[in-house]
Amino acid sequence: MSEEISPTPTASRLNRLRNWLSLAGMVLAIAAFFAFILLFAVDLMAAHANPYMGILAYVVAPMFLLMGLALILLGYALETRRIRKGLPEKDSAFVLNINLSRPRDRRLMVAFVGGSLGFLFLTAFGSYETYHLMETNSFCGETCHTPMEPEYKAYQHSAHAQVDCVACHIGPGTTAYIKTKINGVKQMYHQILGDFDRPIKILNPNLRLAQETCQTCHWSQKHFGDVHKTYRHFLADETNTPFTVQMILKVGGSDPVHGPVEGIHSHMNVSNKIEFIALDEERLNIPWVRVTDANGKVTEYRTEEFRDDISKHPIRNMDCMDCHNRPAHNFASPNDAVDQSIAMGRIDPAIPWAKAKVVKVLAASYSTREEAHEKIAASLRAEYPEDQRVDALIKETLAIYKNNFFPEMKADWRAHPNFIGHKDSNGCFRCHDGKHMAANGTDSIKGSDCNACHLIVAQGAGQELEKVNPKGFEFFHVDSEYTEPNCAECHNGQIQEE
Ligand code: HEC
Ligand code: HEC
Ligand code: HEC
Ligand code: HEC
Ligand code: HEC
Ligand code: HEC
Repeated sequence: MSEEISPTPTASRLNRLRNWLSLAGMVLAIAAFFAFILLFAVDLMAAHANPYMGILAYVVAPMFLLMGLALILLGYALETRRIRKGLPEKDSAFVLNINLSRPRDRRLMVAFVGGSLGFLFLTAFGSYETYHLMETNSFCGETCHTPMEPEYKAYQHSAHAQVDCVACHIGPGTTAYIKTKINGVKQMYHQILGDFDRPIKILNPNLRLAQETCQTCHWSQKHFGDVHKTYRHFLADETNTPFTVQMILKVGGSDPVHGPVEGIHSHMNVSNKIEFIALDEERLNIPWVRVTDANGKVTEYRTEEFRDDISKHPIRNMDCMDCHNRPAHNFASPNDAVDQSIAMGRIDPAIPWAKAKVVKVLAASYSTREEAHEKIAASLRAEYPEDQRVDALIKETLAIYKNNFFPEMKADWRAHPNFIGHKDSNGCFRCHDGKHMAANGTDSIKGSDCNACHLIVAQGAGQELEKVNPKGFEFFHVDSEYTEPNCAECHNGQIQEE
């Protein structure tokens, strides 16, 4: 290193790389490559892969790598041009002329090597910190502020508020891993362009197939037995008459080792396997179902209208998310939200017609949050001009709106229906509607009568609730016109509830 390096026009082409620009490019390229390896390793070893990591590892790091390579080439090109012009070497600012016996060169070299090491260290530290930032729920929920706000809000009020987004949103396996990487990059791109779907469609279509995501925490073999639930409603009348339903849900279990295979959780692919075809992305329209029981007996059910050859459609395995599709992002219907507020005393049940009027303003459509706030306040004020309770009523109505309706993203309970029951969306009745018939033409899917999934042990209000029937009451519907059992046809919000 001590001899003079003095490139001449005839010197080897490699020597043309000996200029400060190319050298800086090399440092940058090495740092970027180093960052890529590091991010890749961290990502491989992390418990959950993070979709946005793809952006760092496969977009940002390579971008810097390319920039480094471009600098190297630029230095090379400038140097070549200089040599072609036959300029004397000493005049060039680009020529690297290092002589370590010269104190100035020694100082420069120390500064350069030190600087490069520092740069490498900062790159490593920076990438690692950015990685951690991207792991956090607030990154997922807040960075993509507008598009993900509805899901983030709903998540914060869910049973899974302590569970990380990535725990559910990344399916297991290498293909899922690669797909999420691509998805993450695509989403960031749409976020920047602002042309994302409103409402956001299913993020990762494979999420639902990934039963394992839920089963890292919930054990599908667990026998739940019966679960008692109370639904507290208030009717749309002047006195907001309470109407409560108490029921025993036959959740059951699916593994004979841990209890009888029975009830709702008998679907869970431990003893029985259930497959289906859905004609739409949301999986609302399910015309064909196949069940394989513990003895290997196969039964196919289809609706009368569906005559297609099944090989034309993808067949899916039923899993947790075909019922629990909103475990972390449930948007309450106006009816349920208002019932809850009255039950908790946040809406005064003594305000005449409160249930009906608040549901009505919530169910109307608005194009922005500001518009909704103004119109809701104005119409409630017009309904109760003399009443000083109206301020509290408006405040609670706006709070319900804020947590459950996102007009800018068009996200609410209608856009993202919950499949767990059958009142507000067809949910269980997508299959259990008595219209999916076996080949013999007489049997429909078992479990389609009112007592198959639950028993109504008490219903009504006050003293009526003390009358308990362990065999299950027939459901008493407020409206005597109720004849069609497809509740969602009236309750799905398409016809306004009065
Ligand atoms: C307990 C599991 C779970 C957790 C935790 C979770 N999600 Fe979800 N998420 C789901 C399921 C299930 C769906 C619906 C998938 C479907 O219908 O195919 C979903 C759907 C979504 C959608 C698509 C739009 C929609 O509403 O259907 C977005 C966006 C989303 N989640 C964002 C997030 C964010 C951001 C977080 C963390 C703040 C998060 N999720 C945490 C399970 C979860
Ligand atoms: C990282 C762990 C974890 C994962 C993954 C997870 N859960 Fe949970 N789940 C929990 C915890 C914690 C609770 C709250 C238990 C409690 O406090 O009672 C819970 C509660 C529930 C409940 C009952 C509460 C309710 O909402 O009514 C259901 C149902 C449920 N989870 C379904 C799911 C489904 C479906 C998935 C997959 C999409 C899933 N969970 C993924 C940890 C998890
Ligand atoms: C056929 C629909 C269906 C499938 C499939 C299903 N569940 Fe459920 N599950 C229910 C219903 C209905 C309840 C009753 C509670 C309710 O209504 O919220 C329930 C209750 C639960 C509960 C709460 C039990 C309690 O004590 O409150 C958990 C946890 C749960 N399910 C997890 C899962 C997991 C994990 C899977 C997948 C392995 C799964 N479920 C598959 C319908 C289903
Ligand atoms: C994709 C279609 C599908 C959906 C959606 C569905 N089920 Fe099922 N369910 C089936 C099939 C198929 C069987 C097996 C019935 C048979 O063997 O005839 C079954 C069986 C049952 C059984 C046992 C019935 C018996 O007598 O053996 C119960 C209870 C049940 N389902 C409840 C529910 C509940 C509650 C929901 C909604 C949360 C639901 N199911 C959603 C297809 C479905
Ligand atoms: C395939 C299973 C299944 C069948 C069949 C079924 N239900 Fe349900 N039902 C459910 C589940 C699951 C829920 C609970 C939903 C939840 O957790 O919010 C429910 C909830 C209810 C509720 C309480 C809803 C509320 O908000 O108050 C009533 C009332 C009800 N069912 C009545 C009926 C009647 C009447 C029938 C017969 C026409 C029927 N169900 C048939 C599964 C079923
Ligand atoms: C023909 C239309 C129609 C059908 C079908 C229908 N409902 Fe209703 N339901 C209504 C109307 C309208 C009201 C409001 C009456 C009131 O509150 O005074 C109502 C009220 C209710 C209420 C009490 C108040 C509240 O919170 O909304 C419950 C619970 C209910 N329905 C459950 C069901 C269930 C479960 C089914 C299916 C088994 C069903 N309904 C089928 C029209 C219908």
